[in-house]
Amino acid sequence: MAENDIITIDGPSGSGKSTISRLVAARLGFTYLDTGAMYRAVGYKAGRLGIDLADGPALAAMLENIDLVLAPGEGDTRVILDREDISLAIRTAEMGLVASKVSAQPVVRARLTDMQRRLGRGGRVVVEGRDTGTVVFPGARYKFFLDAKPEERARRRCLQLREKGQQADEQDILAQISKRDRDDSDRALAPLKPAADAVIVDTSRMTIDDVVSFMLEKVEKLGQNRQNDSQGAGKIHP
Ligand code: DC
Repeated sequence: MAENDIITIDGPSGSGKSTISRLVAARLGFTYLDTGAMYRAVGYKAGRLGIDLADGPALAAMLENIDLVLAPGEGDTRVILDREDISLAIRTAEMGLVASKVSAQPVVRARLTDMQRRLGRGGRVVVEGRDTGTVVFPGARYKFFLDAKPEERARRRCLQLREKGQQADEQDILAQISKRDRDDSDRALAPLKPAADAVIVDTSRMTIDDVVSFMLEKVEKLGQNRQNDSQGAGKIHP
């Protein structure tokens, strides 16, 4: 693979994106960039400061001097905001809704998109989110869109939250993720949708290992096609 390679993985919540992105990144020795964590951190900070999540100018002022550090590791990315570790505080269902709300603000999207492009500039990165293949890195060669049936996604989210010691009701979670998907898909700016050239993977009936193997095979195949393309470049075919 080339030095500047970027793999984008988009999809709705509970589609397996985070776990799979982390595993794919680890297998390839790439860095993992969780863009959802950035939107969660911005929502968290706005809440702390009592800023209305729809108040663009106040959010813009807040973003002027946000100190956000992401440290990917074995599990969820560690998120340090203004020198405070907020990794656990942002991983709640409620913070998912807050992040979704704040993410519809143009000023927030512009600032975070810019940060994400800078973080991914060096390549060898797996970027996960909603718009990473469509807006943040439209030129990425390797693009995936993970999806799964809403009931299955709610079941997975519930398990995840319970593993973290949080209470979770499957019906409540289903209602929350359905609302979040609707809001994320219907917004005017950078809506949740597959890039035209993304490989769409329905993970409903696949294990994590199945999905990771499938994706690594695809990446290898696409990489080979590129090599063949570039070997053929400049040649004149009869
Ligand atoms: O992936 P996540 O659940 O941590 O994301 C939280 C919210 O952040 C999601 O509902 C919408 C928003 N988001 C976004 O708008 N664009 C991204 N690239 C990533 C997340």
